[in-house]
Amino acid sequence: MAAPILFFDSGVGGLSVLGPVRAALPTAPIVYAADNAGFPYGPKTEMEVATRVCALLGRLTERYKPALVIIACNTASTIALAHVRAALAVPVVGTVPAIKPAAAASVTRAIGVLGTVATVRQPYVDRLAAEFAADCTVLRHGSGRLVELAEAKLHGRVTDAADYATELHGLLDQPGGERIDTVVLACTHFPLVAAELAAAAPRQLTFVDGSAGIARRVVHLLAGITWPDIAPPGIAVFTRPGPDVDALAPALHGYGLMRTEIL
Ligand code: DGL
Repeated sequence: MAAPILFFDSGVGGLSVLGPVRAALPTAPIVYAADNAGFPYGPKTEMEVATRVCALLGRLTERYKPALVIIACNTASTIALAHVRAALAVPVVGTVPAIKPAAAASVTRAIGVLGTVATVRQPYVDRLAAEFAADCTVLRHGSGRLVELAEAKLHGRVTDAADYATELHGLLDQPGGERIDTVVLACTHFPLVAAELAAAAPRQLTFVDGSAGIARRVVHLLAGITWPDIAPPGIAVFTRPGPDVDALAPALHGYGLMRTEIL
């Protein structure tokens, strides 16, 4: 039996990475871990995020013996990717803001980065902007509300279009924001509400995220593995049981996650 691919996020956001990876490797065994006991990561300090993510990934790796770990969370990746790589003996793929493809796509040379409050303040983002978008204006907006909206949607609750517009205005109304034509969805929760964001946008915007690139990278890194003929049922792992976990079952089934476990 092939070892699984382990996805990790604070909540449901990593499903936006799981989707393209599963499309590329449809029969790969999947374990999807959500740290719902630690959710949300956006308001936490760097120390809190790094400590939690390293400890949890250590336990998850021991329990599930994955072939590869995907930190399907920009907050965790921009803060703790190097620490996790140093601590684990398996390949670790991170999810970092897709500033490079956004800069390649922007005609106006003004791009927006929508992430969590913790992600948008990271030096990692400064480095990506300097390396790949030096000739662009790069504006950032941290939004915890969009994370909540994506969680609400996948928990089957109705969300309000006006809330998406408010969050976009937090970015577009900054000085220079009127020139933005491309927006990086720098939190894995946000592609789950990309349609709602596009519908609420005051003008046509191109939304970019890194999930397709991650899927290509994972296929490349796991090229030697023989996958099963039929996909085994995927496992969703949570750090705390509760009604919020039960409400997610329909959404999880849509991603092939048929069983739930508690870490
Ligand atoms: N999905 C996460 C990210 O990509 C974090 C959301 C949160 O827990 O605040 O940043």
